Amino acid sequence: MIRIGVLGYGYWGPNIARNFHSRERAEVAMVCDPNERAAARLKKALPSVPFTTDPRELLCSPNIDAVAVITPVRTHFELAKLALENGKHVFIEKPFTQSSAQAEELIELADRKNLKIMVDHTFLFTGAVKKIRQLVDDGALGDLYYYDALRVNLGLFQHDVNVIWDLAPHDLSIMDHVIRSKPEAVVATGAKHFNELEDIAFITVYFPNKVIAHVNVNWLSPVKVRTTLIGGEKKMLVWNDLETDEKLKVYDKGVSVQDGQGIHELLVNYRSGDMWSPRVEPGEALTSEAEYFLDCIEKNLTPFNDGNNGLRIVKLLEAADKSIRNRGEAVPV
Ligand SMILES: NC(=O)c1ccc[n+]([C@@H]2O[C@H](COP(=O)([O-])OP(=O)(O)OC[C@H]3O[C@@H](n4cnc5c(N)ncnc54)[C@H](O)[C@@H]3O)[C@@H](O)[C@H]2O)c1
Repeated sequence: MIRIGVLGYGYWGPNIARNFHSRERAEVAMVCDPNERAAARLKKALPSVPFTTDPRELLCSPNIDAVAVITPVRTHFELAKLALENGKHVFIEKPFTQSSAQAEELIELADRKNLKIMVDHTFLFTGAVKKIRQLVDDGALGDLYYYDALRVNLGLFQHDVNVIWDLAPHDLSIMDHVIRSKPEAVVATGAKHFNELEDIAFITVYFPNKVIAHVNVNWLSPVKVRTTLIGGEKKMLVWNDLETDEKLKVYDKGVSVQDGQGIHELLVNYRSGDMWSPRVEPGEALTSEAEYFLDCIEKNLTPFNDGNNGLRIVKLLEAADKSIRNRGEAVPV
């Protein structure tokens, strides 16, 4: 039985606790949140699980094998470091840390202690992203041209991170998982309308071979949109995550060009074939992610969403922040 301690029982923590506690080979041995009100919610959801307001009680407990850090971003580093120092594996929320230096320190510490770090890039465990990755790997889309994601809604404004650090880890981790080559540079623009934190941002990531990615994140949108387009040489795909049935649509559309004599004589042929909606594996992403975390501990595997995966995303977030500060200057990564 793998015993999990959950730090942070706000909005996301209950989902993590429920998923670990309902696994056969795991149990949540303790939940910690400095906010007393979390105790009542825990009592209703998981009445047998002990509660504390003191993180050290959980982190120092000899009866806990792994700690899930589901707290605000500013606390991730300190809590994960204490967990690793106390010999616990770490399951940690996105974004992994507030800086790449913090991420590197945690990765080094975990390596030295032979402990696992898994960063909760939840979308990588959704049926939609698994299917997209499979289509790309099988060559169904052909060579990729672009990845374009729109993740906008009204709020929820965060107090410690801007909209990039809050929402873009989702799209950047999916992009990293699907494109799988090393980005070259990041260009980002954005604006802060209320305080010192950007509430809207546009991030462009350049890859080798003319592959380009774009992520639009916005807390000031009147409507919620979760749509991603992926264009390839052979097929193009639209993923609408708000659809319940046909989340993915693959279009047999594209262009082919023939050179004419000069630039004005480029002959463009448009292809407009069938559209199909591939089956997407049902089920909650966190359930398969929790199983995978337990597998990695039991079988001593390195998760693909490990600390290095978290670090790659933190580096992109840092580059986006730097580019915004310099009004869209290209920042090499
Ligand atoms: N993977 C996802 O899809 C997803 C979704 C939502 C949030 N998140 C991430 O989860 C984390 C938490 O977000 P949230 O929306 O639940 O925030 P939240 O503010 O609703 O909850 C955070 C909780 O952590 C508690 N906390 C603060 N310091 C603590 C400490 N030292 N020890 C223990 N508990 C502490 C707070 O009292 C609060 O109850 C963030 O990193 C966020 O990015 C991920």
